[in-house]
Amino acid sequence: MKTAAEHDPAWVLREVLGPVVVLRLARPPVNALSPALAQALAQALRELADRQDCQAIVVAAQGRCFSAGADIHAFGHAAGDPHELPGQIETCPKPVVAALHGDTLGAGLELGLACRARVAREDTRLGLPEITLGLIPGAGGTQRLPRLIGADAARALMLSGQFLHAREALAVGLVDEVTPGDPVDVACALALRLAAGSWSRARPRGLPLGESLPVPKGRLPQPAAQVLEACLAAALERPLAEGLALEALGFAQCLHAPESRALRHAFAAERRSRQVPDLPAGLRPRTLERATVVGAGTMGHGIAICLAAAGIQVDLVDPDAAARGRALLAIENHHAQQLRRGRLQAQEASARTARVQAHAQLSCAADADLVVEAVYESMALKCALFEALDRVCRPGALLATNTSTLDVDRIAAATQRPEDVLGLHFFSPAPAMRLLEVVRGARTSPQALFDGLALARRLGKIPVVARVAPGFIGNRMVGPYGRQAERLLLEGATPQQVDRALVAFGFPMGPHSVGDLVGLDVGVRAAAEGGARGDPRDGAIARRLVALGRLGQKTGAGLYRYEAGSREPLADPQVEAIIREEARQLGVRRREIDEQEIVQRCLLALINEGAALLGEGVAARASDIDTVWIHGYGFPRWKGGPLHHADALGLTQVMEGLARCSRMSPHDAALWEPAPLLGELSRSGRSFADWDAQRA
Ligand code: COA
Repeated sequence: MKTAAEHDPAWVLREVLGPVVVLRLARPPVNALSPALAQALAQALRELADRQDCQAIVVAAQGRCFSAGADIHAFGHAAGDPHELPGQIETCPKPVVAALHGDTLGAGLELGLACRARVAREDTRLGLPEITLGLIPGAGGTQRLPRLIGADAARALMLSGQFLHAREALAVGLVDEVTPGDPVDVACALALRLAAGSWSRARPRGLPLGESLPVPKGRLPQPAAQVLEACLAAALERPLAEGLALEALGFAQCLHAPESRALRHAFAAERRSRQVPDLPAGLRPRTLERATVVGAGTMGHGIAICLAAAGIQVDLVDPDAAARGRALLAIENHHAQQLRRGRLQAQEASARTARVQAHAQLSCAADADLVVEAVYESMALKCALFEALDRVCRPGALLATNTSTLDVDRIAAATQRPEDVLGLHFFSPAPAMRLLEVVRGARTSPQALFDGLALARRLGKIPVVARVAPGFIGNRMVGPYGRQAERLLLEGATPQQVDRALVAFGFPMGPHSVGDLVGLDVGVRAAAEGGARGDPRDGAIARRLVALGRLGQKTGAGLYRYEAGSREPLADPQVEAIIREEARQLGVRRREIDEQEIVQRCLLALINEGAALLGEGVAARASDIDTVWIHGYGFPRWKGGPLHHADALGLTQVMEGLARCSRMSPHDAALWEPAPLLGELSRSGRSFADWDAQRA
C-alpha cells in the first residue's frame, strides 16, 4: 500500500502508507539527534499536522538503531534545541506512535516517551544513559518517564543509566507492544486505532523493576545525580510544564559542569582512539579464526578466554604440564562463574571452554592465523620464541607479543617478517580489562596494525595505538608517578597517607596498595631487566622489602601486612621502621607531608610524563593517553584522564606546580623539568585539547 516516498534532505525519510505517514530518521551511524535532525523532524510533523489525508503518524528509523540519543558531539556548539521536539509530538493533533528497534537511548527514548504509544522490535534496548555522561535526560525524560512507569522504576533507570531489553520494557509499561517482525507495521495499525479512538493502554503502569536494575552504590556524577533527584521530586509534585522548566535549567547546569565535560571527553576519547589517521583506506581485515597463545600463565589463559569469547579457536601452548592444567581449570572456572552470574547461557559457556585446547609443543602454531605470546618478561626468551615462531608459522600469520615494557622492534627483528609483528598489550585480568595497547613497531605494516585494531574491536576491547618506547604509554607513565609515591615515603609520608590521598582524588586504589597487589618483586625485576642504574633512591624500599620476602599480598606482607585470607592492607610499624632506616642511609631529610602535596606531586609527575611521550609521538593524541589511564590504571573517569585534568587545571598552573616542586626538591630538579610540549602549549596559551584538535 506504499503510495509515495521522498527523501528529506535533512535525513528524515517520509513514506505515505495510506492514511498513516511514517517519518523515518536516517542519519547514520546511530541517528544521533542533532539539532538539524530534530528540526527536520519537527518541520515534517508541522507539515503533517494540517494535512487532511494524514490521520496518524509513525516515527521510526532506518539503520542499525532507532537513535542513540542527542548528538554528543554537538553539545555546546549548535544553535537550535532538540529538546523542544517532544513537546511538539505530544501536542500534535494527529496521534504519533513510535516504532523502535535497536538502541533507543537518551533523547531517542525521550522522543518515544512523548508519543502516544510505543512499539518495539524484540532487539530493542531502551535506556537513559545521560548520567554516565554527567548529564540528566534533557528532553522531558525526567518528567515523562516517572509519569509512565512510576517513580521508583524511573529513578532506577535514570540513576543507573542501564538499558532494558524490549520484553523488560514491556513488563514495566515503557513500551506497549513488542514484535519480532517490523515494528512499523504494528505501529501503523496501532496508530490507526488511536486515530479512531479505539485503543487505550490496558495494562497497569509502574510495575516494579525488581532486582534487575539496582541503583549503583558507587560514586554518582555530580551535580547530575542531585539535579536528577530534584527533577524526580518535581515530577511527583508539580505540573508537567514546571517540571520541564526545572529539567531544562538542571540540564544546562550539568552540561557546563566540569564532571560532565570530563565524562563526555572520556566517551569521545575512547571512540577516537581506534582511528589511526595514517592508515591507507580500503584495508580489509585478514581472517583470524585460529589462534595460538604461548604461555599458560595468568595473562596467557586470560587472553585465551578473550579470544574464545570472540569465537576464535585457541591452542594454548606451554611446556609445563602443571601450568597447562591450571590454565584449563581456570578457563573452565571462569566460564562456570559467568554462567552462575547469568552472563552466559550453558551452551555458550561450554562452547567457549571447548574452544581452548592445551599443547606442550609449539608445532600447533603452524595452523594459526594469529599468535599471541604471553611468556615471562625476558627479552632473551621472547626473541628465542619469535625465532621459533618464524620457522613454524605460515606466511601471513599475525604475530603479537603481550610484552608490557620490552622493545617490540627487537622482538620483531628475531623474525624474517617484522611487518607481521606487533604488540598487543593486554591488561590483567585480561577478560575484565577493556584496554588494549596496540604497539606499532617501526616495521609493523599498516595491514598488521589494522588487523590488531580490528581484533581489539572483535574482542570488545578499547584499542590505543602506541609507538615502541619503554613501557609504551601506560607503564611508562607509571614510572614517574610511582617514583613520587616512593619519594614521599622516604621524605616522611606513610604508605596509607599516600594511598588515602590518591583514593580521595578518585583512584580506586592508591599506588602502594597496587604495588602490593601486583607484587613488589615485579617492579624490582623489571628494573633489573631494564638494566636501570639511576638514582639509588629509586626502588630502594621495594628492593629492601623483596629481600625480606615481603612481596606483597601473595606473601601476606609487602608495604602493608595482611591477615590470613584478607586483602585489607594494614599499617605495619616494621615497614615504617624500614622506610626510616632507608631514608637515613640515603640521606633523605624527613618532614610532615600533607595530602595536597601528595596529590600534586604524583599528578604533576604523571602529566609531565604524558606530555613528554606525546611530544615524542609515542601516543598520537592526548586523549589516547587519557583513555589508557582511565581504562588501564583507574584514573577517575569523571576527571577525564591526566591530560584532560591538566587542561582543566590550566597549563599555566601545571607549569607553576612543576616549578614549585623543583624549588622544594632541588636534588630532583631534573625530574620536574617541564616536557618541551607542555612548555610550548603553556607559552602559546593552548591546551592538550587544542593540540589534539589541530591534528584531527
Ligand atoms: N551522539 C553522537 N554520536 C554517537 C552517539 C551520540 N549519542 N552515540 C554513538 N555515536 C557514534 C560513535 O561516536 C561512533 O562513531 P564513530 O564510528 O565515528 O566512532 C558510532 O556512533 C558508533 O558508536 P559506538 O559506541 O562505536 O558503537 P557501539 O555499538 O559500541 O555502541 C551505543 C552503541 C549507542 C550503545 C553507544 O555508542 C552509546 O552508548 N552511545 C551514547 C548513548 C548516550 O549516552 N546517549 C545519550 C546522549 S545524551
